[in-house]
Amino acid sequence: MWRLRFVLILFIILGLTTNFVVAHEDSTGTVKERMQLMNNLGEAMKAFSIILRAQNNYNIESLSSIIGKIKDHSGENLTKLFLEKSMDVTSKADPSILDSWSDFSRIASNLFNESERLERRLKSSERLNINEVVKSFRSIAKTCKNCHSQFRRN
Ligand code: HEC
Repeated sequence: MWRLRFVLILFIILGLTTNFVVAHEDSTGTVKERMQLMNNLGEAMKAFSIILRAQNNYNIESLSSIIGKIKDHSGENLTKLFLEKSMDVTSKADPSILDSWSDFSRIASNLFNESERLERRLKSSERLNINEVVKSFRSIAKTCKNCHSQFRRN
């Protein structure tokens, strides 16, 4: 009897895994690429928030490398993944992006500017106070939210 249960459980787990893989494989090309970019941004923000817990003892090199990553995933590197006809059913990108291109790309540039500004300040000799780093974190998170609330469907 336990064997049957075991096989059933295994079947369910494998079934779920297969579904998951298929769901991701439904997204292809540009859509998949930008989801990857967005997930990298999510990871970077998570790593950023963990670093903030060290308060004023935060590690400058680790933080700089995270901020560099956010910067590389912003501006044109971000917007170019929304250019072509890439609004398929697996995408949560709002098709209005194409009509509101200037607003959309302005938010992507804000993300670039915010991260570049923090990167530059981290490179200067003076160690940034944690309150200022937290302030930057908030501004960066605000740009993510700002774009999502306008251009990502639920
Ligand atoms: C200029 C607009 C814009 C900015 C800025 C932006 N996003 Fe997004 N994000 C989107 C859009 C549009 C989608 C939906 C993409 C799709 O489904 O095709 C998305 C999707 C996501 C997803 C879901 C990806 C998936 O696998 O479905 C995550 C996570 C995410 N963004 C994190 C972030 C974080 C963190 C930031 C800030 C550091 C950020 N985004 C900044 C527009 C933006």
